[in-house]
Amino acid sequence: MDMLSLLSHPVWFLCSLVLAVILHMQKKGRWDPKKCRVDLTGKTAIVTGANTGIGKCVALDFARRNGRVILACRSRERGQKALEEIQRETGNRNVVLEILDTSSMSSVRAFADRILRNEKRLDILVNNAGVSGMPRAITSEGLEATYATNHLGPFLLTNLLVDLMKRSAPSRIVFLASFLHKQGYIDTSNLHGKNLEKQKVHKTYKCTKLMNVICARELAERLKNTGVTVTSVNPGIVMTEVMRHYNLLFRAIFNVIGIFFFKSAEEGAASTIFCAVSEEAEGLNGQYVDSDCVIELPSEKARDPAVNKKLWEASEAATNRTGGPGQ
Ligand SMILES: *[C@@H]1O[C@H](CO)[C@@H](O)[C@H](O)[C@H]1NC(C)=O
Repeated sequence: MDMLSLLSHPVWFLCSLVLAVILHMQKKGRWDPKKCRVDLTGKTAIVTGANTGIGKCVALDFARRNGRVILACRSRERGQKALEEIQRETGNRNVVLEILDTSSMSSVRAFADRILRNEKRLDILVNNAGVSGMPRAITSEGLEATYATNHLGPFLLTNLLVDLMKRSAPSRIVFLASFLHKQGYIDTSNLHGKNLEKQKVHKTYKCTKLMNVICARELAERLKNTGVTVTSVNPGIVMTEVMRHYNLLFRAIFNVIGIFFFKSAEEGAASTIFCAVSEEAEGLNGQYVDSDCVIELPSEKARDPAVNKKLWEASEAATNRTGGPGQ
């Protein structure tokens, strides 16, 4: 039997058919941003880390829905490139760039000041910016850089913008966490880089993602009945630039495996867009939503009120913040 007739054998046809049906059924039922008709005309959204990966896909989606979209990026050059791309692709001229480095609390404060001065409203805040695999480092403000970028920056930013969001209610805040939060733990002295000698860089990432889940839950509790709701999401395993601090071999392996198993940045953006705009997610507050846009229980470590309160207070102290949300 030659190759062609072997491949066209009915058994192969049947196998392909079954596989196609399974794949289709897996995708069916999953919430799809493209089928969601929600329009954001007259609404304003901030997406941090919007120049690449999931952040860019989320910003692009909001721009397509005619919202005013503020791209909060660390690099003016890379941010400008994303801005032009999004404007070109959507024709939305109401997309702007603002510089924000979430590892620096003074950058966060300056960014929030500009927003509060220039924006009349804020309907959506997506805390997406984050790093992983970065070597341990202490910032000039005495904070550990990964903890500052992934947790303290978003924590402070959200608190500074929350009053504007209350005035724009109903409004939504989304924290990009990860299923990896399940392997994290909370040690508040890590925020200042203490006790980190034994902590591997990949562990640091997991701990900060646990902090994102906790921060969303704690904030949701504190903002009850204000019309501002908070969720955290798992984007799934996504091929993005978040890997850029790992070595070349690790990245190469990740990328090769990724071609077969991982989500694209666009697919990874779905759970965030679901929480930020969908009618289905209206009123969700404090929940953790997984990559298929289904509510999931976060790890037990994220559900201990005493630990959550302790992290909140340590985060306030580390960012020199006093008073309730809004100060
Ligand atoms: C908090 O205040 C202390 C003392 O003024 C200062 O050294 C530190 O850099 C501040 N930290 C932040 C994150 O602003």
